[in-house]
Amino acid sequence: MARVVYVNGRYLHYREAATHVEDRGYQFADAVYDVCEVWKGNLVELDEHLGRLYRSLEQIRISFSMTRAVLIQIIKRLVRYNHIVDGHVYIQVTRGVAPRQHEIPSFSLSPSLVVIAKHAKVEKLEGLARKGVDVVTAPDIRWSRVDLKTTSLLPNVLAKEEAISSGAGEAWFIDRDGNVTEGSSCNAWIVTQDRTLITRPAGEASGILGGVTRKSVILKLAPALGLKVEERPFTVLEAKNALEAFNTAAIILIMPVISIDGSPIGTGKPGEVSQSLREAFHKYTDLTPV
Ligand code: PDD
Repeated sequence: MARVVYVNGRYLHYREAATHVEDRGYQFADAVYDVCEVWKGNLVELDEHLGRLYRSLEQIRISFSMTRAVLIQIIKRLVRYNHIVDGHVYIQVTRGVAPRQHEIPSFSLSPSLVVIAKHAKVEKLEGLARKGVDVVTAPDIRWSRVDLKTTSLLPNVLAKEEAISSGAGEAWFIDRDGNVTEGSSCNAWIVTQDRTLITRPAGEASGILGGVTRKSVILKLAPALGLKVEERPFTVLEAKNALEAFNTAAIILIMPVISIDGSPIGTGKPGEVSQSLREAFHKYTDLTPV
């Protein structure tokens, strides 16, 4: 069956789905988005993802009047139309269409909503998790409100491209003090020699996006597995000397990191703590059936 995409009130064939050339999302990245995992026909931590989407909208003052209940219906319908069992849903809201000018037009705009559902390559992802990923570091040149999930991702795109072209799988951003902020599309973690999980604190102007997967690890998985968590900055040197390291995001879940800038972490193989977090993930997360 052909893929179906939701665009501003209509369910369209993937190939025909399009937005206007003067959509402010297209011209200014004046838009926010979120990505929610679909696992065995369930939306994972949907409330958290939608909470973050609506918070991001509010913070950049996009007045999006669609209720959560209606948005959830659209998301569920799209997952069903596309027969997604394991995959993810991408939700994007832009400020809307207007003749190009930097300032926000004084007339009221209708935000554009696009929802895309995609199958996951489960085997490939699990293979990657068994192997682990290599990380390279890159200066964090992003703006200071990366706590908002906007589509303004050029520095992330370029850092990821650098990582891939150098044979690694992900880039970790480094701030001016030499601390790791986060990955180009994930949160960054280390595990100390005494098995404490360390990740940078989240919040406004914290230098990271408050990841939903990160929050699940802190509030649900770590307590369930008896692991201590410390939210504090860590340096690249500390990361290189850690017992383990891993990345978290809705698409990759808990992904072991096996080297940083060519220095192996621990044994240079996925660590036992990261693997146990990955295995336990869906046992403790909130699942909404579609
Ligand atoms: N990105 N930090 C950044 C910069 C991210 O882009 C993401 C996720 C995360 C992790 O957030 P969460 O656990 O809520 O997925 C952290 C999504 C998956 C993306 O852009 O595709």
